Amino acid sequence: MIDRRGFLVLAAGVAAACTSRPADSTTSGRGATNTVDFDFRPEATELDLGGVTVDTWAYGNQLPGREIRIRKGQTLRASVTNQLPDRGTTIHWHGLAIPNAMDGVPVLTQPAIEPGQNFTYEFVVPDAGTYFYHSHVGMQLDRGLYGPLIIEDPAEGADYDEELVVVLDDWIDGVDTNVDEVLANLQRTGMPGMEDEGPNAGVTPVRPMGEDGGDVKDPYYLINGRVHTDPQVVDYSAGQRIRLRVINAGSDTAFRIGVPGHTLTVTHADGFPVIPKPAESVILGQGERVDATITLTSSVPLIAAAYRKDGYARLNMRVGSTASSVKADEYVDALRNQIPLDTATLSAAPEVMLSQSDPDQIIDMRLGGPGSGYLWTINDKTYDPPNDGYRVESNQRVRIRYINETDMFHPMHLHGVTFQVMRSVEQGSANRASPAARKDTVLVAPRQTVDIDFDTNNPGRWITHCHNTYHLDAGMATFIYYE
Ligand code: C2O
Ligand code: CU
Repeated sequence: MIDRRGFLVLAAGVAAACTSRPADSTTSGRGATNTVDFDFRPEATELDLGGVTVDTWAYGNQLPGREIRIRKGQTLRASVTNQLPDRGTTIHWHGLAIPNAMDGVPVLTQPAIEPGQNFTYEFVVPDAGTYFYHSHVGMQLDRGLYGPLIIEDPAEGADYDEELVVVLDDWIDGVDTNVDEVLANLQRTGMPGMEDEGPNAGVTPVRPMGEDGGDVKDPYYLINGRVHTDPQVVDYSAGQRIRLRVINAGSDTAFRIGVPGHTLTVTHADGFPVIPKPAESVILGQGERVDATITLTSSVPLIAAAYRKDGYARLNMRVGSTASSVKADEYVDALRNQIPLDTATLSAAPEVMLSQSDPDQIIDMRLGGPGSGYLWTINDKTYDPPNDGYRVESNQRVRIRYINETDMFHPMHLHGVTFQVMRSVEQGSANRASPAARKDTVLVAPRQTVDIDFDTNNPGRWITHCHNTYHLDAGMATFIYYE
């Protein structure tokens, strides 16, 4: 009954310890330079999300897609055979600084893989951490075309007993519509009912991303492919330290994550280490990841409450086969009244801090939309590759300023690099930029500006875009390029 990937497909009531298993894959070569092979076949399929059956597209008959687990420095080789009915596809390796030709962005880095065709991605995995992979064509990420990508570093002193991969999603596809229709509908009707929320768009400490939770109403919320009424159950013993690797693969939802009665010790943001920080709850935007450890004292759910939407996802951690006494609805209400930790505000661990240096070039990116036609823009333009990119010089420090001129939050993602979020701190009467976490995706609250710094040491054409898949498909993307 317990599949090797059992934590992804557990039936109700069946529990399995979920630890770091070796990747289900074939390894060739020897020594430190070995290659790990994976085979992906995106296809139309029917999935059971825990009593909810949907017709969708996925990598085989499972959600999330199979876990990739590989060591830093190994070569990942992934053969992708497109078995989708009538659409091209790609795979993007979200967060990895790899050669541009392997980045999986149609038009910019490769032609989409047409139905019946094959493409093989092959690259050395550069950094340890919690990542994920997903299709980068159209709305395919909002179907089932995603999965976790865990890169281990044997040199990383691991201070925990078990680890648990937690993939969050908001699900609408194949319920009574599909994601392309949902997008077309938004484009047809715009966003009726959008209110003017004033200069701050309702941003407060408890609501750091403002009033507006998203464009898609009433999806199911999933953890590891299951709805909260039939959650995955994982068995532990009391006192165990669990490293949670949480990935937000959702398209239109940020989540508040917490474990009732347990403090999260946040250790990594988007795969990179931070100076550890305790938190009662964390907010995680689309495309972001967080690693946190907890010391389990009793049976307890992990809850991911949708930000400014109704509903939540859960997973049950069970100690000694007792049921949890936590009332999930009450806990969700409590979560919504907390000030969640935004991992972008954490300090990068010293070993991953970028060297201090002033930017050689600054690019302003004004985020706009949606207007009346559901257009989301950067500097008043919708994405039009390969036109309208921003040329930068190689081997320089570049700063992008994401200036959010909308009433909605945007999780902004940049490919090909892990940037350093710059926090603006007041010093006397002036504002200075001071370095915070290393990340690849950062929440930009309504009417706020976030600066990110990075070095141009990985040439190519790198897209930057909102990781709300609807906003991306409706234009909120551009790219930088250098030789
Ligand atoms: Cu996870 Cu360009 O995306
Ligand atoms: Cu957006």
